[in-house]
Amino acid sequence: MAAHVLFPPNQALIGGDWHTTQATLEVETPSRGEVITRIARSQADDVNDAVQAAKQAFHGQLGDWSSWSARHRSEWLLAFATAIEADHERLAALECADTGKPMAQARGDITACARYFRFYGGAADKLHGETIPFENDFAVMTLREPFGVCAQIIPWNYPAQIFGRCVAAALAAGNAVVLKPAEDACLSVLRLAELAMEKGLPPGVLNVVPGLGQEAGAALSAHPDIDHLSFTGSPDTGTLVAQASALHHVPVTMELGGKSPQLLFADADLDAALPFVVRGIIQNAGQTCSAGSRLLVQREVAEEVLGRLAERFEALSCDAGEADADCGPLINARQKAKLEARLEAAANDGVRTLARGRMAAGAPVQGHFVVPQLLVEVPDGHEVLREELFGPVLAVQVFSDEREALTLANATDFGLCAGIWTRDSGRQFRLAKGIRSGQVFINNYGAAGGIELPFGGIGRSGYGREKGLEGMRSYTRIKTIALMHG
Ligand code: NAI
Ligand code: MG
Repeated sequence: MAAHVLFPPNQALIGGDWHTTQATLEVETPSRGEVITRIARSQADDVNDAVQAAKQAFHGQLGDWSSWSARHRSEWLLAFATAIEADHERLAALECADTGKPMAQARGDITACARYFRFYGGAADKLHGETIPFENDFAVMTLREPFGVCAQIIPWNYPAQIFGRCVAAALAAGNAVVLKPAEDACLSVLRLAELAMEKGLPPGVLNVVPGLGQEAGAALSAHPDIDHLSFTGSPDTGTLVAQASALHHVPVTMELGGKSPQLLFADADLDAALPFVVRGIIQNAGQTCSAGSRLLVQREVAEEVLGRLAERFEALSCDAGEADADCGPLINARQKAKLEARLEAAANDGVRTLARGRMAAGAPVQGHFVVPQLLVEVPDGHEVLREELFGPVLAVQVFSDEREALTLANATDFGLCAGIWTRDSGRQFRLAKGIRSGQVFINNYGAAGGIELPFGGIGRSGYGREKGLEGMRSYTRIKTIALMHG
């Protein structure tokens, strides 16, 4: 464990104060399987206190949030972005220790977190309603109002980035937030919350209740006083959360992962495409909702592509996050065991591992590592083509023509992202329109995170959009005012 990491409070942030919870949870660093600190284990009472604090903050009974103008919020968010940048190395070290992700990726995540606050800070005072031409004796306008208390349940794979994505957008629109970070990784979130307090965010505007999903998460999603809920995680938990929030008719945004394909045609620039194909699945050890976890390759170039990809996979190495190798560990022993069982079942079904990466010499043996793997000869409809594996495992299928490529691309209940690699502009657009997914990338993949680009799913990948201006709008509701002036 890096000695320079100073841990943020192992408490819940409620109404501007840090609260000690009765029970705590161990925090393990996945790179070494060692306990490095503890976090709060918030219960329903703590969650209720947090929701009440947010409600009071929103209505101006706690602090002066409701009196802040859009410009004031904008200025605070921009100043907070600067504060995150000033704390960059510490936040990155926390993220790296907590998630096991390579240090370079952790640094990139903190940069992205700051960019969310900068983007939404810039947007906060540009959130316009409309005027509507109606009968002549009327003036009609729409206001974009904040919901009030936004509940946010976020996962462990990108804690700092998703904090930025959700919190910056919600605050920019004038909401108060109660955030339940994941039990598996929330140190960067706690430090960010501490920084927000240091930077003068009024008490109760941001509350953070670390704890277990079935305790703090369930209490938050079922709470009668929340006004909006955004969830990022697994489809099964998403169903539970949506059911709970439906009890009180709370609108929800669901970001539930994917099984995103990259389509590689024979006319593509292979030199440009292959690094993206590898990075699309290796980044964060494949624990990315938008991971490009399926490669569909056209028959004419399949042999060449597989040969070149095999070389690249064999060159990939895994090590502790701090060692900054290509790939870090998975988040915990459970995720590792789940992935290994699926890979074993696939091998029994005849799926062949064409190439695999390796452990770096001296990598800690207790880390939850699974080396990158390239799977070929996968039977149509096999589990590894349908289920999110959440590991550095790329499944390859070969297609003959555009029609077959589209059929294979859409042969999933998920629909988050897709990559299309071809020089044929007609095909680029035909496929971009035909693919069922929330984002389509042509001759690139991921657009470097794309803070400005609306993001979200279709089908089992969820609904609602985050990121970009659309993400901020989804933290508002429309009020229509019709004035009859006679
Ligand atoms: P999860 O969906 O159970 O956890 C996500 C968040 O939901 C965490 O904060 C957790 O504490 C909370 N949660 C869990 N149960 C809850 C409940 N009953 N009520 C309210 N909140 C609850 O995901 P988990 O178990 O950590 O990972 C399992 C799989 O989920 C992964 O293998 C992956 O396929 C998928 N996943 C997808 C993510 C994405 O970015 N879309 C992120 C994390 C996981
Ligand atoms: Mg879980």
